[in-house]
Amino acid sequence: MIIAIDGPAGAGKSTVARELSKRLNYKYLDTGAMYRAITFELINRKLEDSKDLENIFKKIIDSIELDFVDGNIVLNGRILTKEIRDPIIDKHVSKAASSKVVRLFLLSEQRKLATNSPNIILEGRDTTTVVCPDAQVKIFLTASLEERARRRYKELLKKDIKIDFEEVKKQIEKRDESDMNREIGPLKVAEDAVIIDSTERDVEWVVDKIFSIVGDKK
Ligand code: C5P
Repeated sequence: MIIAIDGPAGAGKSTVARELSKRLNYKYLDTGAMYRAITFELINRKLEDSKDLENIFKKIIDSIELDFVDGNIVLNGRILTKEIRDPIIDKHVSKAASSKVVRLFLLSEQRKLATNSPNIILEGRDTTTVVCPDAQVKIFLTASLEERARRRYKELLKKDIKIDFEEVKKQIEKRDESDMNREIGPLKVAEDAVIIDSTERDVEWVVDKIFSIVGDKK
């Protein structure tokens, strides 16, 4: 079975998908981490302000290998965890997300990974609409902007990353805007997706809810 979880930044998709994958013993594919890893490489090469991004992304794609170990992304053999959650990545990730070459490359990688696993949870924007429109379970997980910003802020504080709350909110708003308006794979609700609003719910409630939806499909 393929379960796809879509939705805006900070809705809790990663946390929910990770928990659900443990409960169901399914493989977990964090597609956002793939865009983040490519952005990490872009910044590492100090090319984030370059004008010719498509060509740069082409070169990056030709020289990297992406993999997953225990749900964490591996870039050229290096496991990336905290590095790809840094606000600097949040700031520049829309460059990778709106690049045609990056999206095509990641789409094919994601489909390969999905078809190679009998049971998988794909999480990220466009997983229900573009990557796996045939997924048996499609979830659109959302929450209010204020709540999403609050969660992301708390997460960053826990990681000792110092940032102002209003700045986090502004960044999420900006990412929503760019995710919804980009030409390829924009953020939108798939026709047959179940919409779950987690504004006043905790992780356990959301995981229980999806777990029961999966149970109904089995
Ligand atoms: O989910 P996460 O916040 O880690 O995703 C980082 C960024 O990657 C998103 O803001 C979005 O622009 C992009 N992304 C995407 N398509 C996906 C997953 C993530 O465009 N399937």
